Amino acid sequence: SSGVRRGNDGAVEVAGVGVAELAADHGTPSYVLDEADFRARARAYRTAFEAAFAAVGTGVDVYYAGKALLTMAVARWAREEGLRVDTASGGELAVALRAGVPGEAIGLHGNNKSDAEIAHAFDHGVGRIIVDSLAEIDRVADLAAERGVVAPVMVRVTTGVHAGGHEYISTAHEDQKFGLSVNVAAGPGTDSPAMAALLRILERPSLRLLGIHSHIGSQILDPDGFEAAARAVLELRAELATRTGVLVGEVDLGGGYGIAYLPGEVALDPERVAQDIASSVAEAAANLGTPLPRFSIEPGRAIVGPAGMTLYTVGTVKPVTVGGDDGEPFTRLYVSVDGGMSDNIRPALYGADYHAEVVGRSSVAEPVLARVVGKHCESGDIVVHQVMLPGDVRAGDLLAVAATGAYGRSMASNYNMLPRPPVVGVRDGASRVLVRRETEDDLLRLDQG
Ligand code: LLP
Repeated sequence: SSGVRRGNDGAVEVAGVGVAELAADHGTPSYVLDEADFRARARAYRTAFEAAFAAVGTGVDVYYAGKALLTMAVARWAREEGLRVDTASGGELAVALRAGVPGEAIGLHGNNKSDAEIAHAFDHGVGRIIVDSLAEIDRVADLAAERGVVAPVMVRVTTGVHAGGHEYISTAHEDQKFGLSVNVAAGPGTDSPAMAALLRILERPSLRLLGIHSHIGSQILDPDGFEAAARAVLELRAELATRTGVLVGEVDLGGGYGIAYLPGEVALDPERVAQDIASSVAEAAANLGTPLPRFSIEPGRAIVGPAGMTLYTVGTVKPVTVGGDDGEPFTRLYVSVDGGMSDNIRPALYGADYHAEVVGRSSVAEPVLARVVGKHCESGDIVVHQVMLPGDVRAGDLLAVAATGAYGRSMASNYNMLPRPPVVGVRDGASRVLVRRETEDDLLRLDQG
């Protein structure tokens, strides 16, 4: 995070709190979250998009995607910075509501929402339910009619734009479970699934069609995909208007704004991407002869990813000599830490790369090729595939992995019965537990004996 500094003694501090103090007060492993950095990124996205869209004559709402990391404090920070909250399940919705986020400032996603989740959304006046299939449209409409409410809905569409990192997090191509295609119809002369969904919503008096939603993927570092998807959505909107006279008021462009994970990598710049999208939608709308809708976006990773790091303690250090590609053997230092794939599944799941540093002290030792691994019972339990660490790295050293704020704690597990680490917030030289560390009692709490 931008609050990270290395002091004269070689020890790192985050927002004015030294890592030794963090480790002593909260133990390791811990997720450390820099509150000021989170707030600054939330603000940067909101102000960049507001300015760019105001310049082309429309407005924008920024929803923080809670799936990246949702705690009550985080939801409140997002809210205080003028963001709304995007939730993807009844559980995320419950956290946002408990944090005091008003229902109208919350969106509810999900390709397989339960009736209970939908009812929960109605009860709290959730501002928008993003529907993802024809079957769900009927279900939401029926549930709303039974309760005598009118449900505000958006339709999630797929535009065929390929963007983003790993296949598992790329969502706009057609052969996956999300969304309704704007391109591929079931047969000649039939409507696209996206158009069919919009028409179906307009037939149901218990639904109010707010607009169209497109999320193309995650960890995207090139603005082109957002622009192409936005154009496709505006075309669909214009086509619906031609056919029905209904010009929907809002278009959501989803999340996916990429961040830097490694030194030297460059994150997507919010100002640049906002301006690129705004000018491209303005041009597209003018070509289509339609006024611009209001927009919304749903960044998660870009707000919370760089604001978080994971603090570990080094345990076993083991040199392993392996055959090189050219046949020459080389030695890689396996540095084990007190967590692993249970607190960060991303390297194992997506082959994601991270950067690690020894943060509790300085070292003049020659750097050596190292691999940071966890303490789980499988060889794929890798935290950092490849990193240069000081050759004197040893048990007891504090090691930090950067940019773990997004999809670390939120995807954490209790594999091998490891307690999940706490989320520690730091701000102005003080730390505070936002989510406490699990205990052995927590691990046994659900076990009925
Ligand atoms: N909106 C929708 C509808 C989404 O599906 C997602 C992410 C977001 C917003 C937020 O995307 P972001 O700005 O954080 O990229 N677990 C994966 C990422 C999965 C993202 C799923 N949807 C990872 O660790 O990379």
